[in-house]
Amino acid sequence: MHKAIILQAGGGYHQVTIGEREAAAPKAGEITVRLHANALNYHDFAVVSGMWGPSEPRIPMADGAGEVIAVGEGVTEFSLGDAVVSTFFPSWQSGEPLVEGFATVPGDGVDGYAREVVTASVNAFTLAPKGWSHIESSTLTTAALTAWRALMGDDHLKAGDTVLVQGTGGVSIFALQFAKLAGATVIATSSSEAKLEKLKALGADHLINYKTTPQWGNLAREMSGGRGVDHVVEVGGPATLEQSMLAARVGGHVSVIGILTGLAGDFPLVTALIKQLRLQGVLVGSRSQQQAMVKAIEANAMRPVVDKVFALEEMVQAFQYQESNQHFGKICLAI
Ligand SMILES: NC(=O)c1ccc[n+]([C@@H]2O[C@H](COP(=O)([O-])OP(=O)(O)OC[C@H]3O[C@@H](n4cnc5c(N)ncnc54)[C@H](OP(=O)(O)O)[C@@H]3O)[C@@H](O)[C@H]2O)c1
Repeated sequence: MHKAIILQAGGGYHQVTIGEREAAAPKAGEITVRLHANALNYHDFAVVSGMWGPSEPRIPMADGAGEVIAVGEGVTEFSLGDAVVSTFFPSWQSGEPLVEGFATVPGDGVDGYAREVVTASVNAFTLAPKGWSHIESSTLTTAALTAWRALMGDDHLKAGDTVLVQGTGGVSIFALQFAKLAGATVIATSSSEAKLEKLKALGADHLINYKTTPQWGNLAREMSGGRGVDHVVEVGGPATLEQSMLAARVGGHVSVIGILTGLAGDFPLVTALIKQLRLQGVLVGSRSQQQAMVKAIEANAMRPVVDKVFALEEMVQAFQYQESNQHFGKICLAI
């Protein structure tokens, strides 16, 4: 038996318990992984805090990284000792989006990776970037792949484009890093002057404090030279969508990703149509997009921004820290 965090039905911090789960020997097409790290996301917070608690006991956490310790019959993609990272949609290999919602997502509709050992289909993992620690690799499954898919999958970002990213959470910092890799100009927002300085150090070209300038859409447009931003990575939700649309260029791309300020709000229909915007809803990405992202990371010697690491058993404290919004980049758990 191996240690696992079990979130009791309904969720809530008081329902986080430490238990044990077995990991079977791998069958054909499966691997067994000794997990070493998880990364936290807003989605995992929603499950664990009970906002979107599970209907039955569940092992939380979609993002898991570790080492292959057994391979089943016919498995050629992985070998013993390989460092691997989990996939958000094991059933979405490549191509157009296939999956609606979270019923098949580890840590939500099915058991996730807040555990020591798991046996799963090869499709539940990809190789991790060479030279990355397990903690670093765990940051890729949700936040990094969402940013990658938004910029490189749905839109084909190119050198010289302008990208707008919002706040200093996991998705936005990865989007900033991928945009800089691609040679784009980046406009970044934050509520904190200290965090804006850190964004500048990561390569952000233009900075906006969204607390002191809540109506920042037209300012961002001016910063892009008046033309408007080619690509907005929209994570704020109802309180930021209008500003994102004002910031965008005519025909610009807005990735509708986040719900940080709520689940619904007014939709500026006229702005969408007069500017002929392309709004694309995003739910993470496919396994082949994750493989392409890992290749790009290796080619560019990129490293993720990890803010703080807690022990697996400190999961609740880690989510409380995330809620406090002190973090810059990713919060992780060491297993
Ligand atoms: N659709 C998808 O596939 C997908 C995937 C991943 C995440 N998401 C969503 O994307 C959002 C961000 O996720 P995350 O994991 O990156 O979260 P996170 O790491 O918890 O990021 C939180 C950060 O967002 C910033 N923020 C809060 N309110 C803001 C506002 N009004 N305007 C701009 N920034 C604001 C804050 O940055 P400052 O402290 O710098 O102000 C805060 O630190 C969440 O809503 C999450 O559910 C969606």
